[in-house]
Amino acid sequence: MVSTHPTGVQHSGSQYLPQRHDTKANTSPNQELLPLTARVHNHDLLEIGGCDVTTLVEQFGSPLYILDEETLRSACQQYRDAFKQYYKGESQVLYASKAWNCLAVCAIAASEGLGIDVVSGGELYTALEAGVSPDKIYLHGNNKSREELILAIASGVTVVADNWYELRTLVEIAQPDQSIRIMLRLTPGIECHTHEYIRTGHLDSKFGFDPNDLDEVFTFVSQQPTLNCVGVHAHIGSQIFERQPHQDLAAVMVQWLRDAGKYGLNITELNVGGGLGIKYTESDDPPSIEEWVKAICEVIQEACAAENLPLPKLLSEPGRSLIATACVTAYTIGSSKVIPEIRTYVAIDGGMSDNPRPITYQSVYRAVIANKMSSPLTQTVTIAGKHCESGDILIKNALLPKTEPGDILVVMGTGAYNYSMASNYNRLPRPAAVVVANGEANLILQRETYEDLIRQDRLPERLKK
Ligand code: LLP
Repeated sequence: MVSTHPTGVQHSGSQYLPQRHDTKANTSPNQELLPLTARVHNHDLLEIGGCDVTTLVEQFGSPLYILDEETLRSACQQYRDAFKQYYKGESQVLYASKAWNCLAVCAIAASEGLGIDVVSGGELYTALEAGVSPDKIYLHGNNKSREELILAIASGVTVVADNWYELRTLVEIAQPDQSIRIMLRLTPGIECHTHEYIRTGHLDSKFGFDPNDLDEVFTFVSQQPTLNCVGVHAHIGSQIFERQPHQDLAAVMVQWLRDAGKYGLNITELNVGGGLGIKYTESDDPPSIEEWVKAICEVIQEACAAENLPLPKLLSEPGRSLIATACVTAYTIGSSKVIPEIRTYVAIDGGMSDNPRPITYQSVYRAVIANKMSSPLTQTVTIAGKHCESGDILIKNALLPKTEPGDILVVMGTGAYNYSMASNYNRLPRPAAVVVANGEANLILQRETYEDLIRQDRLPERLKK
């Protein structure tokens, strides 16, 4: 059956092209399905960043992560500009690099003036190697190792202290004349509607100090000459569409700021975390970047005025909403299996190893066929990965044109938590990634080889033939 619009126009992959408003600058990437530069050329072919997607796959292989630089930069600029517009104090946007941490992405974010939030020694090392200035790097984590803390202190980045164990370790490893720049992560006790695994702000969370311990924490920190506590931090969860939880958070955080003053702490930074959601399907309706920023700025400014407090430097750390929509993953279609009256499986050359989100969170994605963008959508199929695991299903009920082996399936919105959560399950080499801009494509992650897969393997002498 051919699906049609109420207008009588046939549905095709083109329906997912960006709905440009006045200008691209007004289009919030998190409200689109495809990158901002996506268009159809030669009637049927998908182009991103001025590059034909099927040609990219011929050149760089399959599967392939394709990152559109303009969409990523636009999201960075929209965050930065919205804070400038709506916040009267100083602000700093940090890219939550857990969404996709690699040299090129860190370098692009930094070149837009963003700082970087890292959560491990590995992410920290990458950000430093990408040339990010240490004074704009913030180290998170609920169980940072001694080595990670030592690296953070030696590099001069800010440590977001999460718990008592960490505070005591910091005091222990500090040199007497040192002043370690820290922030305190607190659990605000705010509920939001998102997947249980990506919710972090409720009281029963492994992250942050319990706000009931505030008195003890502030007292302890104020007595440590080697700790320079500059701010408070909280993060309530991810893929959030409501504005209210973040507004509630902002108000609670201003109270913490006020309380800190009573302990003689000069807290000047407030970090509201990340969490703004993106559109993965037509029915997702997140607020724009500008709307989200405006809502937070208003609450903080009102609450500070009510408490007669100077405006803190306002930090936020979005991940998903900065990068998810900027990237698509291109796969090559191979085998299919028709089970009459039940379903048709269409298999691709990747799956849960390059995108573990569907199997982990039951996340829903949309896809198009890059070489059949104008063909009518005539079949509903299940897109199966190639892993030896029945649950390795990338998309259930994908509405697509008739597909054949060799077609290029493009899954949208894969910039966040795909590469960064990728694995080598079944010893599949991880895909390559390219950044595209103005008709040029540059490799940013080389495709893994079989040699890469055994690089860390060791074969004890006695097992050698
Ligand atoms: N700040 C902190 C302290 C965080 O824990 C996170 C995300 C962020 C910022 C960025 O949040 P975002 O703007 O991306 O929502 N793997 C899951 C998401 C886990 C999010 C972890 N923390 C997923 O694939 O949905």
